[in-house]
Amino acid sequence: MSYDPESKIINSWKKNVDPWIRAVRDHEIETRQLVTNKAIVDAILYLSPKSVIDIGCGEGWLVRELVGRGVNTLGIDVIREFVESAKKENSGRYRVLNYDELSYQTLGERFDMIVCNFSLFGSKSVESVFHSTAEVLNPNGVLVIQTLHPDNHQGEVSASEGWVEGSWSGFSREFCDPAPWYYRPLESWIKLFTDSGFEMPKIIEPANPITGKPASIIFVGNHVANC
Ligand SMILES: C[S@@+](CC[C@H](N)C(=O)[O-])C[C@H]1O[C@@H](n2cnc3c(N)ncnc32)[C@H](O)[C@@H]1O
Repeated sequence: MSYDPESKIINSWKKNVDPWIRAVRDHEIETRQLVTNKAIVDAILYLSPKSVIDIGCGEGWLVRELVGRGVNTLGIDVIREFVESAKKENSGRYRVLNYDELSYQTLGERFDMIVCNFSLFGSKSVESVFHSTAEVLNPNGVLVIQTLHPDNHQGEVSASEGWVEGSWSGFSREFCDPAPWYYRPLESWIKLFTDSGFEMPKIIEPANPITGKPASIIFVGNHVANC
């Protein structure tokens, strides 16, 4: 049987639903508290979208945050348990969907903005998100992605694009079976945007106040192909 890293990502999330919900809701991830939560919310609200789809929404914290600011927001995630947990918080709309199911036909609506907050770790699955953007976004729509900063991983992996071993280092011991993830250098991220009808994305590098280094990278791309 061949090894499929994309399935491994989904299977790993299935096994780690409870610890992930606790880690997010009990504020266990320091960089999120210090930097990255505020950074993604600020990047979104700066553009004043009326409607947002949060792709790979997990337990739904960002959907709740945006709904609280008056933004019509839909969260989608492939893990049913995340979506059920998010729905119980009584804020926002949610659907169980895999990235490769994203289309106007499936969603029945378009959005001013697509947001992916630390949810794009695959290869083909990430490409399928980019391929769907033209039909999921309104004209002049925006794609905002926050992810691991490529420079923070050059010590651990070769600088070339490809699958690397995952780890739950820094997370509680309840987490198990880390998934591999697909490393993309900066140029590969930019190429995904420009090959999918976006202008050259704006890049934000939110700094960790303790280390002074970027805690993440945020890409903000304006879609131009379906205007
Ligand atoms: C690191 S979590 C981030 C969750 C959330 N965006 C946040 O900021 O807390 C990654 C999320 O992506 C989801 N995900 C991964 N692959 C997916 C796929 N192919 N389709 C839909 N969701 C996926 C996982 O289930 C998980 O909830």
